[in-house]
Amino acid sequence: MRKTLLAANWKMNKTAAEAISWLNDFYGMAAEKAAEKDLVEVAVCAPFTALYALYQERQRLGAVMGLGAQNIFWQEKGAFTGEISAAMLQEFQTKYVICGHSERRVLLQESSEMVSRKCGAAVNAGMTPIICVGESISVRRGGLLRQWLEAQLYESLSFWDNQQEIVVAYEPVWAIGTKQAATTADAQEACGYIRQILRERAGDIADDIRILYGGGVTPENISGLLICDDVDGALVGGSSLDAAAFDKIVMAAVE
Ligand code: 13P
Repeated sequence: MRKTLLAANWKMNKTAAEAISWLNDFYGMAAEKAAEKDLVEVAVCAPFTALYALYQERQRLGAVMGLGAQNIFWQEKGAFTGEISAAMLQEFQTKYVICGHSERRVLLQESSEMVSRKCGAAVNAGMTPIICVGESISVRRGGLLRQWLEAQLYESLSFWDNQQEIVVAYEPVWAIGTKQAATTADAQEACGYIRQILRERAGDIADDIRILYGGGVTPENISGLLICDDVDGALVGGSSLDAAAFDKIVMAAVE
């Protein structure tokens, strides 16, 4: 059984004070209670400064929401200005690390080889990478969706020994930031390809790997995405910044 995971990706949004305020709002809502009952898994991937604030506030409240980072560096420590290590993230019980988001692949030229090294650092420290893959509109229009996903996954997974826990997020670049998610059919097609590719690589283990959909998820469209056989949750950007909207998204997964 794959437990549904709803992960918020706040990107470069929210100060530490804003994160604390969000968590206090969210804590009183239905989603936190559903997560306490283990009906669904919820995580927030926050900026590093907000992550520390969330860690402390979560302890104070006794909240169960998981914490995630949006980046990691593959070296343990040293002269790597601006980077963050696995040990630094572990210090505040970070469970997930988003690796290879398209915004980093495009804006910062992060290659799949770099993504794989980052994922390797995360799993070696006992964290679970959320590995993002997804095509541009020109790749889709060119009929190259499966090949694209295969190449991105193949290279981003070179660290993987087929045993460590991973999460894959299918994020079509053309849907990100639009509030207009892929259709149910498009999401299922791509997530189905991803599971096939994982099966070719790791056999039946592919059935245990959670595949999230991300890009334009809202409280209105989440239910249509979660009915897909191969969609096991969502990675939510803009709609997660408002605690009430994210609560609705989580509750759609419980209902
Ligand atoms: P939006 O939900 O804002 O489209 O962002 C999706 C995303 O990039 C999540 O990682």
